[in-house]
Amino acid sequence: MKYYILFGPPGAGKGTHAGAISEKYNLKHISTGELLRAEIAAGTELGKQAQALIAAGSLVPDEVVEGMIESAFDTIKGYDGFLLDGFPRTLGQARDLDKILGKRGEAVTAVISIMIPDDLIRERIAHRAAIEGRADDASEATITNRINTYHAQTEPLIAYYKEAGKYHEVAGYPGNIEENRARVLKMVEGIQA
Ligand code: AP5
Ligand code: MG
Repeated sequence: MKYYILFGPPGAGKGTHAGAISEKYNLKHISTGELLRAEIAAGTELGKQAQALIAAGSLVPDEVVEGMIESAFDTIKGYDGFLLDGFPRTLGQARDLDKILGKRGEAVTAVISIMIPDDLIRERIAHRAAIEGRADDASEATITNRINTYHAQTEPLIAYYKEAGKYHEVAGYPGNIEENRARVLKMVEGIQA
C-alpha cells in the first residue's frame, strides 16, 4: 500500500487538488478536517469536543485524529493506498503515524507539499469563506491563529520528512487552479518514477 501525505498551510490547495491525485493513483483521500466537520455536523460527542477548538483555529488533540486515521486504515479496502490530507500536523502525530504504519509492516511513501505565502492564505480563505461557509474561515482572528498554529506546530514536519528523504515540494501559486493542478500532478509523477 502507498501512504502519501498531502501537506501545506491552510489554503494551499490540498483539498482542491486531492481529488485529481487520488483518482489518478487509486488512493483513498482522507481529510482529517473534513472528517471532523462531519462529526460536528452529526452532533457526535467527538464533534462537540472538537467544535470550539476548530472554531478558534487551534488543533484538536493528537489522539482524536490518530484514532480516526487508524480506523480508516482498518476499515477502508479496495484502494492502492491513502492520500492523507491535513494529517499529520504535529511532530507527535508524525512519529505516531510511523509507529501505526510500522506495526502493519508499512511506511510513509512520500510527502506531497504544496506551498504558498501567508498573504495568499488570507486572500484565498477570505474568498472561500463566502462560498463554503466554514466556521473557521469566518473571522480574521481565527485565520491568524490557523496561520500561527501552522508555523509553530506543523512547519517542523518539513525538516522531519526531509531527514527521512520523503519530502517533495511544489509551489501552489501563481496561476489558476487548473495550472496549479497540472504542476502538482507533474510533481507527483516525478515521485512515482
Ligand atoms: P482542515 O480542514 O485541514 O483545514 P486547513 O488545514 O486550515 O486547510 P484548508 O482546508 O484551509 O486548506 P486547503 O489546502 O485544503 O485549501 P483549499 O484547497 O480548500 O482542518 C480544519 C481544522 O481541523 C484545523 O484547523 C484543526 O482544528 C482540525 N484538524 C484537522 N486536522 C487535524 C490534525 N491532524 N490534528 C489536529 N487538528 C486537526 O483551497 C483554499 C481556497 O483557495 C479554495 O477556495 C480554492 O478554491 C482556492 N484556491 C486554491 N488554489 C487556487 C488558485 N491557484 N487560485 C485561486 N484560488 C485557489
Ligand atoms: Mg482542506
